[in-house]
Amino acid sequence: MKTIIEPFKIKSVEPIRFTTKDERIKILQDAGFNPFLIHADDVLIDLLTDSGTSAMSSDQWAGVMRGDESYAGAKSFYVFEKAVKKITGDKFIIPTHQGRAAEKILFSILGGPGKYFPNNTHFDTTRANVEFSGAEAVDILNEVGKHPEQNAPFKGNMDVEALESFIKKVGKENIPFVMLTITNNSGGGQPVSMQNIKDVSSVCKKYKLPLFFDACRFAENAYFIKLREKGYANKSVLEICQEIFSYADGSTMSAKKDALVNIGGWLSMNDEELAMKCRNLLIVTEGFPTYGGLAGRDLEAIAQGLEEVVDEHYLQYRIRSTEYLGEKLMNNGIPIIEPPGGHAIYIDAKRFVPHLKPEEYPGQSIVCEMYIEGGIRACEIGSIMFGKYDNDGKLIPAMMELVRMAIPRRVYTQSHIDYVAEVVIEVFNRREKLKGYKITYEAPLLRHFTAQFAPL
Ligand code: F0G
Repeated sequence: MKTIIEPFKIKSVEPIRFTTKDERIKILQDAGFNPFLIHADDVLIDLLTDSGTSAMSSDQWAGVMRGDESYAGAKSFYVFEKAVKKITGDKFIIPTHQGRAAEKILFSILGGPGKYFPNNTHFDTTRANVEFSGAEAVDILNEVGKHPEQNAPFKGNMDVEALESFIKKVGKENIPFVMLTITNNSGGGQPVSMQNIKDVSSVCKKYKLPLFFDACRFAENAYFIKLREKGYANKSVLEICQEIFSYADGSTMSAKKDALVNIGGWLSMNDEELAMKCRNLLIVTEGFPTYGGLAGRDLEAIAQGLEEVVDEHYLQYRIRSTEYLGEKLMNNGIPIIEPPGGHAIYIDAKRFVPHLKPEEYPGQSIVCEMYIEGGIRACEIGSIMFGKYDNDGKLIPAMMELVRMAIPRRVYTQSHIDYVAEVVIEVFNRREKLKGYKITYEAPLLRHFTAQFAPL
């Protein structure tokens, strides 16, 4: 088989800035050892997130020029609505400025004290929006998904039996809906199988509970189904997406991922009464229902992005290029979540630096070293992001200590990725010398964004 190449040529380039190691040590110190606080200009390869960092196509930029900026009833809204309906099949499509805006609206209306939201694994903003409403976010991931070293095709699956027991335990009247995150970002970018989606959907039907998707990476999830699940090899990705959404009652979406744009999102559903309530809140917080916090040009770019993201040459390149980085690291003995996920490679920090305890934040240590070594920015997904404190102020660690290297869509070439692998291997070779960190400042919610650290 020949090399799988980038299915595009480059029309416009953006220079990246080189720095020296000494400069980077100073930059990191000034940022309180938190890469979120580094100026992007000081980063050579930015793997902080795949969100809003996609390169848009010439057709998407053409859409930007076509954008109709009318306050109400803009032509671009109907283009957007049609594109989202083609994939989700949902009746009511509500634009939002990004995923968490959709979450905020949905959980403000349906959440509240005494309510529970089961999910395979909540992403941090989803959890924060559930908790902000006073409700409880409950992760019900299947067992294999909790073990970074175990290889399985659908590690994002929900534990269906545990879901049913949970519904019986807390009472279906206290569960406004069940959610599945496809792919499971916090659990390693791992996909959910069609079988699992069907099984979760039948449990929901049995207890008359709606099922919503957190659909950010639906196309990547669909492509994994095509590659790995029996009966889907000859279906088009679009057909697979349509089948996925046919099992749900609605979705929240961050278009900054699988709609290949820099901003945008939606909330979709079939329940008319709920849609009315959501639109009323949308008007207060986001804008009129035909633009919802976006410009007409953004809606056009999303519509075009949704056409491009289900292109199978694109998805083949996308999934293979993530796997390519994963393979290079694994071949050098670096522990990662296996198999490689769709949008990111997740280093298993517990095995990378086994001498560091969770309260020394092993993931943060690796993240800082990657920046110092090669100007690469990655993100800790471990006890900084998900850790809590008990009543005595002692850290309750996260289930896993991970470092995420998220790959922006259509942005970096194979040689950029080769360079990333070289840097990580270099850090791995001196892993025994890596030191832990302590937190010197933290915010009460989503602390990882603004926390400050000091090396131990
Ligand atoms: N759900 C999932 C699964 C996500 O990954 C994200 C964002 C959101 C919801 C929220 O969407 O950012 O548009 O408000 N994830 C980004 C990331 C930030 O880096 O993984 P948003």
